[in-house]
Amino acid sequence: MNITVFGANGRVGTLVVRRALHQGHQVTAFVHSHNPFEEHPQLTVVAGDVTDTTAVGGAVEGAEAVVSTLGAFRRGTGPVLAPGLTIITQAMRQHGTRRLVVLTGAGVARPGRRPNLRTRVNRFVLARMDRTAVTDAEDALAVVAGTGVAWTAVCAPTITAEGPDGYRLTEQMSSLLAKVAGPAVAAGLVALAGQLDASPVVGIQQATPRT
Ligand SMILES: NC(=O)c1ccc[n+]([C@@H]2O[C@H](COP(=O)([O-])OP(=O)(O)OC[C@H]3O[C@@H](n4cnc5c(N)ncnc54)[C@H](OP(=O)(O)O)[C@@H]3O)[C@@H](O)[C@H]2O)c1
Repeated sequence: MNITVFGANGRVGTLVVRRALHQGHQVTAFVHSHNPFEEHPQLTVVAGDVTDTTAVGGAVEGAEAVVSTLGAFRRGTGPVLAPGLTIITQAMRQHGTRRLVVLTGAGVARPGRRPNLRTRVNRFVLARMDRTAVTDAEDALAVVAGTGVAWTAVCAPTITAEGPDGYRLTEQMSSLLAKVAGPAVAAGLVALAGQLDASPVVGIQQATPRT
């Protein structure tokens, strides 16, 4: 499959790119401030800002699925997901790309639905840390939900850099005290990229790898 990854040079994005390459996918990595990747025959790197419609369009053209690990939590740079996903979904429609998987935090509810208690508690805590990032993620999902793309938002608790890659998708959000390993999140995002019929909003937990 051809997969384009936005936020590719971030902590989780780097793992997603490496996971997808390892599984034999053709990957376009949209990088921002730097390129952490070695040359690879299945990898194309596009550098740019996600608000650059030309750069985004070039990265999306030919993709069967887009994975976003964009974010700017506690950076103070303002909204990134909502403006970025507005442009990304426009490019997806233009180029006929149907599948979108977005990584976000465990305090974000499904648009138009009343969040349950766990999600509300998570949201309260995260908003104390960075209100702009929380509203940006909610605005982004509202944007995505209004497009015709087949989307899934993966709402993760704390993501650790290392650990096993076994994961479980859940209907309920995890507590923010829970941890899930970056390799598990990357595995979930890459698998979901190929699943058009997955739920729009899912939680993710660590699971023991299947043997
Ligand atoms: N890490 C966690 O524990 C955790 C837990 C739950 C949810 N999440 C969410 O998961 C997502 C990814 O997390 P992460 O830890 O991998 O974050 P990260 O390391 O900060 O990665 C974010 C990525 O977005 C890119 N980006 C930011 N602004 C951009 C712009 N204007 N144009 C293009 N790219 C831009 C960054 O590029 P530069 O660095 O080059 O600017 C980076 O590649 C975020 O939305 C985060 O809130 C993270």
